[in-house]
Amino acid sequence: MPEAIELLKTRRSLKPIELIPPGPSAAEVDTLITIASRVPDHGKLTPWRFIVFEGDARLDAGAAIEAAFRAKYPDARPEQIAYEQNRLARAPLVIAVVSRAAPHVKIPEWEQVLSAGAAAMSLVLAAHALGYGASWITEWYAYDRGVLAALGLQENERIAGFVHIGRPSAPPEDRPRPPLEQIATRFAAR
Ligand SMILES: Cc1cc2nc3c(=O)[nH]c(=O)nc-3n(C[C@H](O)[C@H](O)[C@H](O)COP(=O)(O)O)c2cc1C
Repeated sequence: MPEAIELLKTRRSLKPIELIPPGPSAAEVDTLITIASRVPDHGKLTPWRFIVFEGDARLDAGAAIEAAFRAKYPDARPEQIAYEQNRLARAPLVIAVVSRAAPHVKIPEWEQVLSAGAAAMSLVLAAHALGYGASWITEWYAYDRGVLAALGLQENERIAGFVHIGRPSAPPEDRPRPPLEQIATRFAAR
């Protein structure tokens, strides 16, 4: 079986804490984003963008997450607060895929959102192709406008995913996949 097919058939997510250093080099980050931006895009609107979190910047971003968490839960325990501060520092690299979908005269917003999903999936696959593991997650802070503003998102922008990337600490176990007969049908000719 060609290598690419084997990769696509065996890809599996890892949890952020299962992704360990070393993370991708600067050149590899460029490769990841180049591949992630090579997705179908009706109307060539580029309805997505990427934010890279690496090194200490991951903890700076975590400070915004922690502040929002404290505001919501003033009685939070110190270990919960520490966990929130570390949210984007569990894996060596996090790339946020930001959807910039907006009303357009011709291109449905839905299709722009789908394009951002495609960008996130291409990013995940590119990470696997480079030998890294990845985890496409959102978690609560992806929906908190205060956190998003602190991360530099405009009001009209949304998080399609925080894609966590690093070396797999161990090979992941697979999970059951839906049987083809449950998810695919052949349209019957009359
Ligand atoms: C848009 C989106 C957001 C997701 N957010 C989370 C999340 O916040 N937490 C989580 O555990 N999984 C989340 N997932 C699911 C994981 O990405 C992944 O699909 C799951 O862990 C199953 O692993 P698999 O990719 O090997 O099937 C999300 C998936 C998508 C498409």
